[in-house]
Amino acid sequence: MPINDTPIRYGSVSRFLHWGMALLFLWQFTGMILKETIGRTPVTGIFVGSHSSVGMLLLALLILRAIWAFVEFGHRPPYHGGIIGKLAAIGHVALYGLMLIVPSIALMRAFGGDKGVKFFGLILKQPGGEKVEWMMAPANLAHGNLGWILLLLIIGHVVMVFVHRWLWKDDVLSRMIGSSPR
Ligand code: HEM
Ligand code: HEM
Repeated sequence: MPINDTPIRYGSVSRFLHWGMALLFLWQFTGMILKETIGRTPVTGIFVGSHSSVGMLLLALLILRAIWAFVEFGHRPPYHGGIIGKLAAIGHVALYGLMLIVPSIALMRAFGGDKGVKFFGLILKQPGGEKVEWMMAPANLAHGNLGWILLLLIIGHVVMVFVHRWLWKDDVLSRMIGSSPR
């Protein structure tokens, strides 16, 4: 599998970032759905306890992914022509936008708060100090809601992949999976 993207398929770096992040998003949303539905249990605790660290990891991977998308721009698989292709491009840009905003405002809130910030056991900020209200306000207002909107967009993205495969028969899944397009 070549490292770089080609107009026919995504290369190994793009695929690793896409599927690795998809798994981490699955972890994030499973945890939050469990928290909302069955509440705090030991199992929920595993997900919720790692939520902010996994979120920070997702933010770091997103930055690498955006840089890689920029490097590969021009020789990635192209969008289809017409309105469908435009909507797909808008959908991907919206996914990138929310993948950036959702964890960024949460991280800002964490640094503006007094509970301290840890990244998998590594202390980034000690607990204590004054709360900085303006740093906490955006996430208090929108982190949760934008997080759920991101989930809806991801579901729409996955549905469209299978609409392409089964309804329109112009398979795009093979660009991101397997070794040769159908
Ligand atoms: C892309 C990564 C992330 C996603 C998709 C995500 C998603 C979510 C979702 C869906 C909720 C549930 C909201 C509700 O209860 O209705 C939530 C809550 C929460 N998240 Fe995240 N999150 C991410 C990153 C982070 C990061 C990096 C932090 C901290 C540094 C964080 C801290 C929190 C906290 C404290 C809550 C509970 C309070 C609240 O609802 O705002 N999250 N997140
Ligand atoms: C089962 C889950 C998923 C499937 C089957 C899937 C499938 C695909 C496929 C086939 C493509 C290539 C589309 C094309 O070239 O037009 C793609 C691209 C993309 N997917 Fe997914 N995807 C999944 C999960 C996710 C998740 C969780 C996210 C982000 C939150 C995501 C974000 C993107 C983005 C932004 C692109 C554009 C290429 C890039 O910059 O990486 N996908 N996906």
